[in-house]
Amino acid sequence: MTPEEQFKNLIGHAKEYGFVFQSSEIYDGLSAVYDYGQNGVILKNRLREYWWRAMVQVHDNIVGLDSAIFMHPTVWKASGHVDAFNDPLIDNKDSKKRYRADVLVEEAIAKQEAKIQKEVDKGRAKWGESFDEAQFKATNPNVARIQAKINDTEERLRLSLENADFKALQQLILDLEIVCPISGTRNWTDVRQFNLMFSTEMGAVSGEGGTLYLRPETAQGIFVNFLNVQKSGRMKIPFGIAQTGKAFRNEIVARQFIFRMREFEQMEMQYFVAPGSELEWYATWKAKRLAWHHSLGLGADKYRFHDHLKLAHYANAACDIEYQFPFGFKELEGIHSRTDFDLTRHEQFSGRKLRYFDTESEASYVPYVIETSIGLDRLFLATLAAAYTEEKLEDGSERVVLRLPAFVAPVQVALLPLIKKDGLPELARQIQNSLRFRFLTQYDEKDSIGKRYRRQDALGTPVCLTIDHQSLEDHCVTLRHRDSMQQERIPIAQIHAALEPLLSIESALAGLVG
Ligand code: GAP
Repeated sequence: MTPEEQFKNLIGHAKEYGFVFQSSEIYDGLSAVYDYGQNGVILKNRLREYWWRAMVQVHDNIVGLDSAIFMHPTVWKASGHVDAFNDPLIDNKDSKKRYRADVLVEEAIAKQEAKIQKEVDKGRAKWGESFDEAQFKATNPNVARIQAKINDTEERLRLSLENADFKALQQLILDLEIVCPISGTRNWTDVRQFNLMFSTEMGAVSGEGGTLYLRPETAQGIFVNFLNVQKSGRMKIPFGIAQTGKAFRNEIVARQFIFRMREFEQMEMQYFVAPGSELEWYATWKAKRLAWHHSLGLGADKYRFHDHLKLAHYANAACDIEYQFPFGFKELEGIHSRTDFDLTRHEQFSGRKLRYFDTESEASYVPYVIETSIGLDRLFLATLAAAYTEEKLEDGSERVVLRLPAFVAPVQVALLPLIKKDGLPELARQIQNSLRFRFLTQYDEKDSIGKRYRRQDALGTPVCLTIDHQSLEDHCVTLRHRDSMQQERIPIAQIHAALEPLLSIESALAGLVG
């Protein structure tokens, strides 16, 4: 099965099992807007909780915030979003389809990278055990030629974006002979700028003065509250403020399911540090965030860092943590060294001092900031994509299983009485009631036990407990593990203790701290 087919199946599965629905589906949907169903909302909440607790509970010096979506319009002038939060767009004159010009180039680069990977795979197949990938890449002439082309393209892209030189960007698209995927032609318009913020009006005031923006990032809510939190919490630098919440962007290219949405959720943390120490903290947070991702168990080999070619207007260092989604390596989280840009700008625009007084050195300064910013919906997609597996079993049958991290699964324990009588449902309910306030449980008595296991596998339930006639006598149940399908008999009195390390967020957090 091709990755595209697998991805299509995943989207179908997400709908069938109540994870993700198209928004306003009965009206044919709203493009790039999605709703989370009865299971999706739990998975999303638990991913958010895992992030939140890893920030706010694990660190003494990180506190939370929940700022409003609407903010004073000057915030967005100060932050640079009114003037500079633009994407370069280009239209194909034949298909009338609109694209992000930089994304077209990045996709062309990805194609070249795939060619290198093909050469590497061929080399590995030929040389087997003795294959040295680094040496092969350094010496193979085909790889060298393709790599040189990639380097040249990346440099031209970087320069054109940095200088806002849209003629050069258009020329790059023409030189790379990029065609529109719909029309197949190279009949492109000029490249133009497009501001991504949604605007609306507040109260009865209309026109310029009354224009509000739906926040395109949650970060600014943190910056404008920097002093409120610092003073009321008596925070000492270095310290962080974490926030989760909705953000809105009028994306030009909105596809790949919930990867790029117009309404989405961010989980951001701004870490305020002394000037001059920011690059050290930047390296620290890169390592910490990668370790957090690894702790989810989505596959350590599926992450890589990607340094930004073009630094945003506020950054002196920036990278993405990319994840290997079904459609290739793409940004999952951004880590940015934002300097003192934001606080300084808010000082200038508000006329208020946003400084920190260091009691030891008796100096007052505008702190520098390291930001970690992850999209919750992208994390959700990465989790679902890593979990979704179509398996052929030894007996020739097939199953679809969601290998979700057990501590974020929407149903963690299924209670399954073997049959619907003889006191088995009552015992199953009794066990469920003893577990329901600690774990997410589901009771299911419909259909054969085999069918019920399949249903729970497809939902991602890590543990099934089967209650049979013997349970009434020996006070034991059968515990079935989702991934291995192994079964073991355990005493009812020991269920709680057996499940705790497997299913609790606390166990995962403890693993993170080490
Ligand atoms: N405050 C910094 C900031 O917003 P960003 O790289 O533009 O930086 C951070 O966004 C993260 O938000 C991204 O890594 C991505 O996970 C998520 N994100 C951005 N745009 C998104 C969109 N249209 N749909 C879903 N997630 C998005």
